[in-house]
Amino acid sequence: MTPADHDPHGALADLSASVEDALGQISSADTLDQLRAAVSGATGKKGSLSALKSALGKVADAEQRKELGRLINDAMTRVAEAAAEREVFLTEREISARVESEKTDVTELLVGATGSRRRGRLHLVTQATERLEDVFVGLGFRVAEGPEVETDFYNFEALNMPPSHPARSMWDTFFVESETPGSLVLRTHTSPVQIRVMQEWPPPIYAVMPGRVFRRDTPDATHMPVFHQIEGLVIDRGITFADLAGTIEAFTKAFFGSEFTSRLRPSYFPFTEPSAEFDIRRPDGSWIELGGCGMVHPHVLRAGGLDPDEWSGFAFGFGIDRMAKERHGIADLREMYSNDVRFLEQFS
Ligand code: DAH
Repeated sequence: MTPADHDPHGALADLSASVEDALGQISSADTLDQLRAAVSGATGKKGSLSALKSALGKVADAEQRKELGRLINDAMTRVAEAAAEREVFLTEREISARVESEKTDVTELLVGATGSRRRGRLHLVTQATERLEDVFVGLGFRVAEGPEVETDFYNFEALNMPPSHPARSMWDTFFVESETPGSLVLRTHTSPVQIRVMQEWPPPIYAVMPGRVFRRDTPDATHMPVFHQIEGLVIDRGITFADLAGTIEAFTKAFFGSEFTSRLRPSYFPFTEPSAEFDIRRPDGSWIELGGCGMVHPHVLRAGGLDPDEWSGFAFGFGIDRMAKERHGIADLREMYSNDVRFLEQFS
């Protein structure tokens, strides 16, 4: 008998040619896309093996039909197995190529053309914080810091927000597990440091207090659950709202440049009375909101151990991250914390 007797429709020859072709394409596929194309050319809807399968009905002999069907199924399995193996290979190769191209060798000493060693740099939020401190120190302020895990007393109560005061809802708070539930929080602002400074430093006080703060916020282009603020506090005899406005204006010019100016808009904060938001005006005439400020509320002075009849003062607070974002024209705050050196090293 000749092979043609076994294979009256040439189906066996077609089958082995298709399988060979598919296996060849699979083993030479250089990308996952090429691999997908090779697989679909064989076992996809319009694939060569699928076509043979649909043509099975034409084989009149039941035994032959069954045998051919089994051979086609085996072939499909072989193609699928070869494709799976190639996929593992290509994926691993892709991953190692990426790791190789993106790796940072922290032990590497990069020696530049000048022979100087490549140095790290400060994060842009740290740079902004240091510049702010410099400006305020130049205006006669001292720098103070407070804890990031605060008691309810310092974060809210001493700032004129007794328990269940509705103004507390202005801050989305993370509570820390403690024996008395709700008594410890990740501070939602740097304002609690005002109280700590008043309790520790004898007046007059001229202080700025930078630091990390936390809010239960979903990260997006302008919000992070962890960010930074700088707080200011001035306590002296006979301090007025004019001193506040003058200080904000002096700061604006010293930090942003003499082409910038500031304005105060009436607002509300529980710890100041009266309260304001302050905005700065860019040279192009546009305004951006920077933070809040006001005259320290008598209840807050008392919580800090000071007599409101003798002492008065003002306070302010604003976000540092947004200023750094504004200064460098960064579109998305999250970029600053993704710790991608290629992004961060652009800012020196
Ligand atoms: N602590 C306020 C906040 O995070 C900002 C603020 C407003 C601080 C007014 C102040 C102030 O010192 O006087 O929203």
